[in-house]
Parts: sequence; structure tokens; C-alpha cells
Amino acid sequence: MKRIGILTSGGDAPGMNAVIRAVVRTAISCGMDVMGIERGFDGMIDDDMKLMERSSVGDIMQRGGTVLKTARSEKFMTEEGRETALRNLKLHGIEAVVACGGDGTFRGAAELAKLGVTVMGIPCTIDNDMGYTDYTIGFDTAVNTVLSAIGNIRDTANSHDRTTIIEVMGRDCGDIAMYAGVTGGAECILIPEVETDTDKVCQKIVEGMDKGKRHSIIVRAEGASVSTDELAEIIRMETKVEVRKVVLAYLQRGGSPSMEDRLRACLMGYEAVKLIEQEADSAAIGINHNEITSIDIMEAVDTKRKTDFKMIELADMLSK
Ligand code: F6P
Repeated sequence: MKRIGILTSGGDAPGMNAVIRAVVRTAISCGMDVMGIERGFDGMIDDDMKLMERSSVGDIMQRGGTVLKTARSEKFMTEEGRETALRNLKLHGIEAVVACGGDGTFRGAAELAKLGVTVMGIPCTIDNDMGYTDYTIGFDTAVNTVLSAIGNIRDTANSHDRTTIIEVMGRDCGDIAMYAGVTGGAECILIPEVETDTDKVCQKIVEGMDKGKRHSIIVRAEGASVSTDELAEIIRMETKVEVRKVVLAYLQRGGSPSMEDRLRACLMGYEAVKLIEQEADSAAIGINHNEITSIDIMEAVDTKRKTDFKMIELADMLSK
């Protein structure tokens, strides 16, 4: 391989820049050229690509977001869009592409692989919702951001004897809520994978009050079955406690990546380039049992995520 491309696509995640840096510098050390493709698959279609040097990725590892920009490409979902993208890759002599992102990005990557391009997928999403890998880059940083918010909210909830519902990201996957909830000492954790039982939530708050707890923290993933507004109203009516709501939203996606995210980004970026150098087939890079792994990219896309329900039991037990 003489020339590879790299793109970031879908929702940004802290650590994407560290992946870009690792890919560019490993590839140059292996004697390859690297083209940075702007705005994900849209940039591939619009021929928005530039040659990257070692210096192009200096001073970016500690920055959140992605220097290559990102987009959710509608055009790439059409056959015409994919053909244009392929033509542009050929025009620049790009033989392999490293695609960084979540589920949607990997589906795009798998389509590109079907057209004969070697594609390496690197899992980057704060949601940690990809079934084939134990970990996705950005998750640790996002959970730590939520933890810091829980700490601040706890101070004021404690002063005012209030119950606060903290809404975190996760449309289909409750990992951010579970990990931040357990480590932030939340009284209740509500996730999309489990139907919300509002009676149980109210009961937990009342039981807490009976034991002298004057405030509670409820961490609710955005995809949980009862909305934050509805839940607040039900708690108010049923328990008579004062309730406040905080939606953390995009705050969770930004910020300087943690050591964990930077390190995993370095390891996965390096691995992707080494596989390309060895002329391996298209693959999804992952982490399983703390080892860097790679599996067929189509298989990765089809692997369903398993929820670790033990985390919910643990949170419940420890917050009584
Ligand atoms: O990156 C994943 C995610 O953060 C989800 O948890 C969230 O629902 C979604 O992206 C929102 O992203 P956007 O508004 O950028 O489409």
C-alpha cells in the first residue's frame, strides 16, 4: 500500500484526534502517504481531501472533537454517492481507508469494503454501544464528564434537599448512565434496555427519606422509556419532594480525552495501519479482555450489543 485515507464520521468523540495522530504517524513511519478526508464520507464524495504530514497532527492529541470534522452522510447511503466516493479515492490513489466512528460509520465502511477498498474501522463513540468490542474511544472521557457534573449537582441537591434527574446521552445504550450512575452513587439509573418502573423510582426515594436521606440523584439515559419531564412530574405528585432536571447533552461529547481514551486511540490507530501494511482484509479494530483485537468488518456490524445488567443491581444495592 502506498497511500491511505483517514476520516472521522458520525457523532464526534474525545480521542478521535489521538487516533488521527496515531494513524498518520504510524503510516508515515511505514512509508505510506496519508490523505485526511474532511467531514467523513461527505468529504470523500465532494473530493475534500488533503495530504497530511507528521506536523499536521502536532498538538492535537489533547484536543476534543476532530480536526478532520465530521458529518452523518446522507449522500453515502445512495449508490450514486458511493460510486462518486470510489472514483475520488481512485483518483488520489487511495487504496485503504481508516474510518473512525460508531455504528453508522461502520455500516458505511462495510459498504465501501464491498466495493473492493480495504477499510479499517476504529470504534469512536461516547455511547460504548458497539457489540463486537468491549470499549469505544470517547466513553471514558464522557463518563468522567458526567461524574464531575453529578458531583456539582450533588452539592446543590444536598443543600436544598432536592431530587435531581440528570439526563445523559444514550438513545439505545445505557452504558453512560450505568457507569456514571454506579460510580457517582446515583439512587436510580434508568436505561433504554429496561422499561422504566416509575413506582419503583418513587419507592426508592421514599425509602431513602425514611432512612434520613434528604436528596437523591437519578441518572436517566435519553432513550429510557419515560421522559425526563414526565418522570419529574410523577415523582413530584407521588412523593411530594422538590425535583430539578438537568440535561447534560453535548457537554458530554467535548473535552480533553482521558489517558484511557488517548492510550486506546494510540493502540488502535497503530494496529489499523499495521494491518493495512500486512495487506490484511477489511477489519474492525476493537478491545476485548484488554487486548487489541480485529474481526471482519461485516461481522462487527452484525454483532449485537449485550447489556451488563449486573451494573444496575450493583447501583441499586450500593445506594440503599
Ligand atoms: O455520539 C452518539 C450520540 O451522542 C448519542 O448518544 C446522541 O443521541 C446522539 O449522538 C446525538 O447526536 P447528534 O445530535 O449530533 O446527531
